[in-house]
Amino acid sequence: MIDQVAAARDAALARVAVVSSMAELRAIDAELLGKKGPFAAFKTRLGALPTVEEKKAAGQAVNEATHAVGAAIDARRAELAAAERVVQLEAERLDLTEVQARPSRGHAHIITQAWERLEDVFIGLGFQIAEGPEVETDFYNFEALNMPPSHPARGEWDTLFVESDPPGSVLLRTHTSPVQIRVMQTLPPPIYMVMPGRVFRRDTPDATHMPVFHQIEGLVIDRDITLADLAGTIEAFTKAFFGGEFTSRLRPSYFPFTEPSAEFDIRTPSGQWLELGGCGMVHPNVLRAGGLDPEEWSGFAFGFGIDRMAKERHAVSDLREMFTNDIRFLEQF
Ligand code: PHE
Repeated sequence: MIDQVAAARDAALARVAVVSSMAELRAIDAELLGKKGPFAAFKTRLGALPTVEEKKAAGQAVNEATHAVGAAIDARRAELAAAERVVQLEAERLDLTEVQARPSRGHAHIITQAWERLEDVFIGLGFQIAEGPEVETDFYNFEALNMPPSHPARGEWDTLFVESDPPGSVLLRTHTSPVQIRVMQTLPPPIYMVMPGRVFRRDTPDATHMPVFHQIEGLVIDRDITLADLAGTIEAFTKAFFGGEFTSRLRPSYFPFTEPSAEFDIRTPSGQWLELGGCGMVHPNVLRAGGLDPEEWSGFAFGFGIDRMAKERHAVSDLREMFTNDIRFLEQF
């Protein structure tokens, strides 16, 4: 019987050695070491052996064989578990580099870029920066700018009014010029200030108009300021912002808050003239509304559209593209 036990043990060990899955191992474990297995069968046969010595020797052989097979199964189980874990880890591995090799960096919108460059250029020319409220009173937007109630020039602005008491006294500012008054009321001259900001007009969006757009206002107040200072400043700005190949010109125009008034244009290197904005010498009534004596102080003001400059600079054909926030459009700049 001892030889039979040894043979059964070797056969069992050989089978355990080639098991390739946990499920198979569980089945073989039950088959070999269970109640119906070969070693259980040997045990029931021990009683039939003739002598105590033989029983003892055979019993020991069966126990040793059972332990050897059990140990082999345990060892194989550990190997298979380790292998399965490797497979599982590989399957569940998250490739965090899969979507993008590295995070992409955003950048400022082209209007913000133009706005900041304009500020930089004017700071370089010795100006300071101020900002005013986007929701304004009739006084600052119109009346202090020499447009009393019923002045026909008010009709040139397609004004968006805000519900207020009395009605029509509060509005979304139609231009940045009201900040001129706020600056004059706050700071003693001399004043060399630019005032960028968002403005609103009741316009239908098209390729060159938006109901919300951006302007930068300029105000200089000092003693003995003349139209020559205005023209020289516009020219210096044109060269600093657009480059030495650009020049500027003033064309007679009309604004209630400047006298005389002009439109200013820039000439591109290809000889094309582009209208940029309005300007002029600050009207005496405006100086008075700002609390200054027109006999003592004089000055000039200008205002132009930031969106239009960004549009020209980047050759954008339709202003609306800038505000639909399509990342494919914005990423180009
Ligand atoms: N505020 C004017 C506009 O919106 C521009 C302007 C500013 C004109 C300052 C003269 C002086 O069109």
